[in-house]
Amino acid sequence: MKNIDSGNHTKGQSVYLDDIPLVAGTLFGAVFSSPIAHGHIEQLYLSEAAQEPGIVRIFTHQDITGENQIGGIIPDEPLLAEHEVDFCGMPIAFVVATSDEAARAAVKKIKVDIKPLPVITDPRVAHAQDQLIVPARTFRLGDTTRAWEQCEYVFEGTTDTNGQEHLYIETQCAYAIPQENGELKIYSSTQSPTAGQRTAARVLGVPMHQLEVDVIRLGGGFGGKEDQANAWVALCALAAHHLRRPVKYVLHRLEDMAMTGKRHPYSSDFKIGLDKDLKIIAYEADFYQNAGAAADLSPAIMERTLFHTTSTYFIPNVRATAFSCRTHLPPNTAFRGFGGPQAKFVMEAAIATAAEKLGVEACVIQKKNLNQTGDEFPFGQKAVSEARACWHKAEELYDVAKLRQEVEAFNTANILYKKGLALMPVCFGISFTNTSMNQARALVHVYYDGSVRVSTGAVEMGQGVNTKMLQVAAQTLSVSPAKVRVQTTSTNRIANTSPSAASATADLNGKAVQLACQAIVQRLKEVAAQVLQASEAAIELRDEQVLLNGQETDLDWKKLVTAAFLKRVSLSEHSHYATPDVYFDKTTEKGHPFAYHVYGTAITTVTVDCLRGTYQVDAVRVVHDFGLSMNPAVDRGQIEGGIVQGIGWMTLEELLYDTAGRLRSNTLSTYKIPDIYSVPKEIAIEPLQTEQDNLAIFRSKAVGEPPFMYGIGTYFALRNAIKAFNPTSPIAFDAPMTPEKVLLGLYPQAATGTQQVHEQQNLRHVAAS
Ligand code: MTE
Ligand code: HPA
Ligand code: MOS
Repeated sequence: MKNIDSGNHTKGQSVYLDDIPLVAGTLFGAVFSSPIAHGHIEQLYLSEAAQEPGIVRIFTHQDITGENQIGGIIPDEPLLAEHEVDFCGMPIAFVVATSDEAARAAVKKIKVDIKPLPVITDPRVAHAQDQLIVPARTFRLGDTTRAWEQCEYVFEGTTDTNGQEHLYIETQCAYAIPQENGELKIYSSTQSPTAGQRTAARVLGVPMHQLEVDVIRLGGGFGGKEDQANAWVALCALAAHHLRRPVKYVLHRLEDMAMTGKRHPYSSDFKIGLDKDLKIIAYEADFYQNAGAAADLSPAIMERTLFHTTSTYFIPNVRATAFSCRTHLPPNTAFRGFGGPQAKFVMEAAIATAAEKLGVEACVIQKKNLNQTGDEFPFGQKAVSEARACWHKAEELYDVAKLRQEVEAFNTANILYKKGLALMPVCFGISFTNTSMNQARALVHVYYDGSVRVSTGAVEMGQGVNTKMLQVAAQTLSVSPAKVRVQTTSTNRIANTSPSAASATADLNGKAVQLACQAIVQRLKEVAAQVLQASEAAIELRDEQVLLNGQETDLDWKKLVTAAFLKRVSLSEHSHYATPDVYFDKTTEKGHPFAYHVYGTAITTVTVDCLRGTYQVDAVRVVHDFGLSMNPAVDRGQIEGGIVQGIGWMTLEELLYDTAGRLRSNTLSTYKIPDIYSVPKEIAIEPLQTEQDNLAIFRSKAVGEPPFMYGIGTYFALRNAIKAFNPTSPIAFDAPMTPEKVLLGLYPQAATGTQQVHEQQNLRHVAAS
């Protein structure tokens, strides 16, 4: 089945928040934010701005009628700065005017005196100064201290992975419209309608039932709107609450890039030990997460990093410690993979280090250590593994031995171009790591003409979840997809939603839809049994027909629905689903946090231009564990998008904050994202269809995040190509592998000079103001 949005998307007829027709009297907001990363606010000058034409009112923290707090996990983030600013781009005032232009013109007239305080941008510096968001956590399996003695080889190293701008095409936005009795209807581009509702209720000091958050669809979220859509909801709600007029704020791209957090940069240390057969016996890792100035989702992301410490491998002795470090950057947040990719990079760097030192191909070590069903993860859960199945299928299908020969032959024949090859296995846990979030609800109405309306807590952000919800309803009710419509995601229809995140949206909400439809089918069967004077067991609903003992009857779907209505039988159902058997005990750091894991293997080949340092990705060939895909077209789209986004993170996208905590890569001319020219020349996706029962909806495994991590293979393929040109090149594990870094890797002697300049400028690291 096609994505149900594809027609409207293609014709430009899909409605996003900024397309909603304006209510008469709508006002426009704009934020004045901190120009510096850390300091005491001494004086705020608003009067000049307030006199600008069209200005209705300027809101500061003093106007907050409830609590000036938007921190979800930890209450450490004011909506509007009071006495201190903690990051460059922190909102200080909210200007509301009769036009968008007027609001932004007034923002430029606001002045502020801030007494600067020391700025930290490096997580290791924050750690050294005890600036932790939450206490450090450690996951353990076996005993690494004793295991080092059994190791034939032990290697250590350090890695860095940079952050990543979400760059959803639709920027952050909200639109609050007053209703009667002090209520507000708030449109938001959020992955978490309930978080927006809860945050606004807290800031306004009103009960949640006074606020409705309604989400049509998102022009992309990628995690960036899981928590960070809340501020704009709260600001528009605050202004609308005071003024009793509609208030809308759509961030400009530069505002969005400067004010919102991104993927967490990590700096990490590893130690890996192998026996003489290249089995990994022991592994230790220390993760320094750059959380930014407030907790946001950082503790949960840090936890998912720990859950993915060993990536797709079984290692009997593990010790992994993670530190969430408070710096003066915008609070970093969820981004596809949610801390998992950062952990996987470190593991692959450790294997690459061992391989290089031992003079073997990394894939020899990778393959030997892939996990198998029954292997224990460091957090206690036992793997139900497809790791080896994916790897072996990829090796055979894409003939890795031949690919390797081709790469070697090419490299022998060419001096100025080198190819590199890398394999990247993926194993990603599905479920919110916070067990209580693994619940969802659905509301299904069958109207008496037989048409169907479905509401869930799922937010459509391009990943195709609405198409899947429609499929679940149509299939469970056995009606044509044309009979079913999926509604917007509204907190009035579905309460207490978990965010659409963790790749679990289709599973959680789809199961709820299935339960609701099953309940309705059950009632309809009872009605059919009465009408046909037969036993209920003999009745079946199939393709909008009522079958009796497998034979067609006069009763069809529409007649049956009408009959049920006349008999006063409910044609609506509100259902609740909670993932069974997931739990986690933080005191022991053990449990069974994931419903299941998704597996896969990617084979990446690249070609490096050794004169220029530029490169192209020749091919990414994947065997992916779909379970039993319920929508191969949608799922392939997720894999292609994930791969390209992962490659962007690993190669082009270079987030740059200066030592004063200011974002320098704040435009699309200075922040390079993948375009059509940088995507792989070939992407091959082969499903590993498994019949195995799992907790996925229709056994169709979650697909949103896992493919992102295939992109890590590109980093290691580039590294291998550089080594083919210059085998002794000391290349730091410092992602992204930009063309500049490739060039310095090819010619390290040239790098020494450049290195010194870099160190003087000290662009990425540290410093007091
Ligand atoms: N695909 C598109 N087109 N747009 C998005 O914003 N978000 C990703 C992924 N794929 C995203 C996307 C992220 S971060 C997650 S967690 C999942 O989709 C969320 O949707 P799902 O749970 O339905 O997979
Ligand atoms: N994944 C994604 N988003 C989340 C999670 C998670 O595990 N926990 C809280 N938000
Ligand atoms: Mo995705 S990072 O869980 O929104």
